[in-house]
Amino acid sequence: MEMKKVLAAGIVACMGAQLFCSCGKERPKEERQVYMGVAYYDQSDTFINALVACLKEEIQEYEEEGVETVTLMRGAAGSQRTQNDQVKELIDMGCNILCVNLVDRSDPSEIIDLAREKDVPIIFFNREPVAEDLRQWDRLYYVGAIAAQSGVMQGEMAVELIEADPGIDRNKDGKIQYVVLEGEAGHQDAIIRTENVVDTLKRNGIEIEKLSNGIANWNRAQAQNQMLQMISQNQNKIELVLANNDDMALGAIDAYAKLNYTESALPVFLGIDGTDAGLEAVRDQKLAGTVYNDKEGQAEAMAELAIALTTGEGMDRIEFENEQYIYLPYFKVTQRGAENLLKRKNR
Ligand code: GAL
Ligand code: CA
Repeated sequence: MEMKKVLAAGIVACMGAQLFCSCGKERPKEERQVYMGVAYYDQSDTFINALVACLKEEIQEYEEEGVETVTLMRGAAGSQRTQNDQVKELIDMGCNILCVNLVDRSDPSEIIDLAREKDVPIIFFNREPVAEDLRQWDRLYYVGAIAAQSGVMQGEMAVELIEADPGIDRNKDGKIQYVVLEGEAGHQDAIIRTENVVDTLKRNGIEIEKLSNGIANWNRAQAQNQMLQMISQNQNKIELVLANNDDMALGAIDAYAKLNYTESALPVFLGIDGTDAGLEAVRDQKLAGTVYNDKEGQAEAMAELAIALTTGEGMDRIEFENEQYIYLPYFKVTQRGAENLLKRKNR
């Protein structure tokens, strides 16, 4: 609350300054103030927290170029209604650019209407709205990654591991018994990652047998619970654990640790994201690999677009797909890569 007051006062003061300048003899400058409102689906999501922190840093870097920046962040605790109210509040407080990570990707209409009424452009991120909705207005954008690519990469990493180590097929039946830990039901990253990892294994001639799957909403603790159940149903049959993100892969590892499994009795675990904890687990060989969800790249693209949309400069330098989309590529991370990424971070 206090913070809000301070920022609100800041915004009002900045606006006052702008008005003041425009009364002077000089021609008023282009807007050099970026009041960015960031609304995201849930403050307990590890990857999203890291992504919005990067975004805040990225936007602050423009201060060096003489752009004044204020960032206001709101997490919606998984409620679209809360998020709609938060967006309204952010617009009322004077934000001139919004970055929105929808709770419900199929329900952006109220937010779009609110923003459009005040001519505030929106950069949606990470949870991709349906294409028809993005076409509702030409000041709507999306920055994210292509979910299918992460599934394929996770599958390719699994193929390589399985081909290199016959011991992964513990019961030597020529098939890999696997389970999947899935993100939210209905989330494109969950559905598409799962489909693509499985397809990639099959396409590469790996015989697989699905034992079970569990929805754990991207969450480590929920994944641990799901995994405990799957272990009790399948005893030692599980040879491969495919998780839609790192937090859930870590939750699966937690489950085995809780049951005191020895290292040699563990299945292979694969994640997606390259969160700090995920990278550390890859470095320590607890997690066989992960697929990096390039939060730095996404944050940089969002900041660049936010600056261009608010100052009117630099739009021509940004490359879009289908006029409104920017996708950053994923990349695979094994032990060496994890070490390097962690070093880079600690520099
Ligand atoms: C995914 C990410 C997950 C979770 C989700 C939220 O891209 O891999 O960890 O953050 O977004 O929408
Ligand atoms: Ca087997």
